[in-house]
Amino acid sequence: MQQVNLGMIGGGTVGGGVFQALQRNGDLLAARAGVGVRLQRIAVKALDEPRKVEIPPALLTTDWRSVVADPQVHIVAELAGGTGIAREMILTALKLGKPVVTANKALLSACGEELFAAAREHGTNLYYEASVAGGIPIIKSLREGFIGNRILRIYGIVNGTCNYILTRMQLEGAEFADVLADAQRQGYAETPPDLDIDGHDSLHKIGILASLAHGFWVKPGQIHVEGIRNISKMDIQFAGRLGYAIKLLGVVKKMPAGTRRTAPANGGPVQVAVHPALIPHTHVLASVNDTFNAVFVRGDVVGDTVFYGRGAGQDPTASAVLSDLADAALDLKLGTRNRLPPFVPHERNGRVLPMADAVSRFYLRLSVADRPGVLAKVAAALARNKIGISSVIQPEGHEGASVPLILMIHDAPNRAMSRALAHIGRLPAVKAPPVMIRVENFE
Ligand code: NDP
Ligand code: HSE
Repeated sequence: MQQVNLGMIGGGTVGGGVFQALQRNGDLLAARAGVGVRLQRIAVKALDEPRKVEIPPALLTTDWRSVVADPQVHIVAELAGGTGIAREMILTALKLGKPVVTANKALLSACGEELFAAAREHGTNLYYEASVAGGIPIIKSLREGFIGNRILRIYGIVNGTCNYILTRMQLEGAEFADVLADAQRQGYAETPPDLDIDGHDSLHKIGILASLAHGFWVKPGQIHVEGIRNISKMDIQFAGRLGYAIKLLGVVKKMPAGTRRTAPANGGPVQVAVHPALIPHTHVLASVNDTFNAVFVRGDVVGDTVFYGRGAGQDPTASAVLSDLADAALDLKLGTRNRLPPFVPHERNGRVLPMADAVSRFYLRLSVADRPGVLAKVAAALARNKIGISSVIQPEGHEGASVPLILMIHDAPNRAMSRALAHIGRLPAVKAPPVMIRVENFE
């Protein structure tokens, strides 16, 4: 088989990008892979929809089923999005034994286990490089490049919209709402943008990476998530003065054996979370700005690695889809559709660490009455929960009914911190709900 035919569903941002990239570099891909990918047909929702990339009308249809069922179509790319009809599109193709390429992180997060099982059952494969961090080849790296490593840590800045907003707030002192509107205009933000801002898009991506790295399926409900809605300009400025940037960070940490509630046979549980974090300016992830994504992976053999690039948009995402198309075409050509299944559940006793048990350092900002004894009361509430303070700053130049008080907190379990914060929030001298942001030191 020297050429395979592709049936695509979706001719929007990503589908249009794939069409264009195949036009530009299809010959190069064929020369390198020894097998060409020919675009047979593209299903869209409406034929007269205006498109950024012009697609010849002869290629278009509104009947996705006819594309999937076409005997001339060997590979199906689901680039329509959503978690409803997209699931049916993928299952229909897999049941016909056709390999599927998708960029749909929301669907994989919700139904990955089912879709991967269907691929296995029907002797075919599901490829999803574009679902996490756009143009960065992180899925292939975890599945193949690091196949001989136990993965100890993954830290990901995997949402371009949030990173863009936080970067502009940090560098320009811009307001959250203004920058969000800009991100929407540039086409990075989801519609509505809540999926980005509240951390769920990052959760989908981090869940996929955690599952791949640890060999058991991490369900979305097991992932602690906090978005960036409550990050203020003031916190970004204070963090900056303390030597930190604030980023929305996906965190996957393998705990050593012996951690509470651990099955001894497989080491410790895995912490999987998405939340804003203070990152030291000296760490490489602190300088990942604008819409860029980065993923830091620590393996027990390779050590620390960092992947950086554009995590969204027409061309970077198309680049990831082309990589999957080449893999699918090669597997068809060589008859190796199951060479590397999409997800191998190799950890039977894998478990996620409850966030309450996770330990972290913290940044705490309080608005307090500026009078003697307040700091002592705050320190006492922390001490009662066995929480130590590493530094205290009361910045000068603030006057009025309340002033900011910044505390950097030593390592403490989230459960203890939540209890202490509930107590501190009730102190009469504390004038607004405490602001708590975790500090990541990458140990
Ligand atoms: P768009 O909304 O730009 O495009 C969706 C396409 O799917 C459109 O062409 C639409 O048709 C078509 N479509 C929708 N429903 C149907 C249907 N029932 N039958 C046939 N065609 C249909 O989305 P994107 O290209 O941005 O996203 C596609 C996928 O890629 C999503 O899963 C997304 O999460 C993922 N992704 C997107 C990234 C990005 O930067 N945009 C980055 C990484 C992943 P019509 O054109 O007629 O409306
Ligand atoms: N809305 C997503 C982002 C698109 O901002 O990163 C890419 O998945």
